[in-house]
Amino acid sequence: MTDRAGAPQAGGLRATARRLVAGGRGILAADESVATMSKRLDDAGVPASAQRRRTYRELLVTADGLADGVNGVILCEETLRQRFADGRTFPEGIAGLGMLPGIKVDTGTAPLAGAPGETVTTGLDGLPERAAEFAALGARFAKWRAVFRITGDLPSNWAIRANAHALARYAADCLQAGLVPIVEPEVLAAGDHPLDRTATVTARVLATVTAALADAGIDPAATVLKPNMVTAGADAVPADPASVGRATLDVLRATVPDDLAGVAFLSGGWAPATAAANLAAIRELPAPWPVTFSFGRALVSPALHAWRGDPDAVPAAQEALLAEVRRNTAPAPVPA
Ligand code: G3H
Repeated sequence: MTDRAGAPQAGGLRATARRLVAGGRGILAADESVATMSKRLDDAGVPASAQRRRTYRELLVTADGLADGVNGVILCEETLRQRFADGRTFPEGIAGLGMLPGIKVDTGTAPLAGAPGETVTTGLDGLPERAAEFAALGARFAKWRAVFRITGDLPSNWAIRANAHALARYAADCLQAGLVPIVEPEVLAAGDHPLDRTATVTARVLATVTAALADAGIDPAATVLKPNMVTAGADAVPADPASVGRATLDVLRATVPDDLAGVAFLSGGWAPATAAANLAAIRELPAPWPVTFSFGRALVSPALHAWRGDPDAVPAAQEALLAEVRRNTAPAPVPA
């Protein structure tokens, strides 16, 4: 049954959102843009091409038993339209393996007028039509990433508000098309700022995003939040995982609704072991929502380096991915 916009009813969207974060399992972010994926392949010694990007993504999602730790896989548009070697589309293949296929719907960032050095995420033009097409191609959820840089006086209120507004509009378009939004406001780790500064900025960002989502009438129970963990800057003295866990939960509990479907953290470029230790510390604390991972680099970097384009290295690459997934999969936390 569908509503007048053709979207599945709210109950279906809530069920999909719950499924994305269920069971202590997480979400694999394999949605690097063509340009970013090509650079990562080139850097790993694999000359980039559409076929090699396809081969690499199929290697990842077909790792045997991936669904034991992964509920959903975020794809970029190129991959959504590509096929497994057996002829199934990626959404068909991923669904057949017991996972939910999703799509990144933002189109990157552009300089934000009035905010020197800051960006706004693009992709709203035509999004209702694109989201409907992605749903028809089999996508069940959609991600949009906004980025905020910490420097002396940034991020500005203007950049935070502009990006929060775009996140709310994207989420509304996706829900209308029957796609669960994964709302990703990322405060970048780059810099030498202390953990307290990340906490203050992340709280400002999340409070503004929460208000924008509420203004747009977004159902928190049909929404997954994908935030950064609250860490010290990448060039600062690192904070220990227990401090990261406490600061992250304090910020989130103060700024986001208790009835969100779940919180799935990004890895933010931290080494796999660091991201996993910080996530484990967050999970030790009581939270009103399921807490899990939606990692990109922290899950796939070891696999890419094990593979390096060598067909004989596919089993080793898949095992490298599965090892990172296992490290981050936890029993479902009990809501507070
Ligand atoms: O948009 C970024 C990805 O979805 C998460 O990537 O875990 O490498 O930060 P990351």
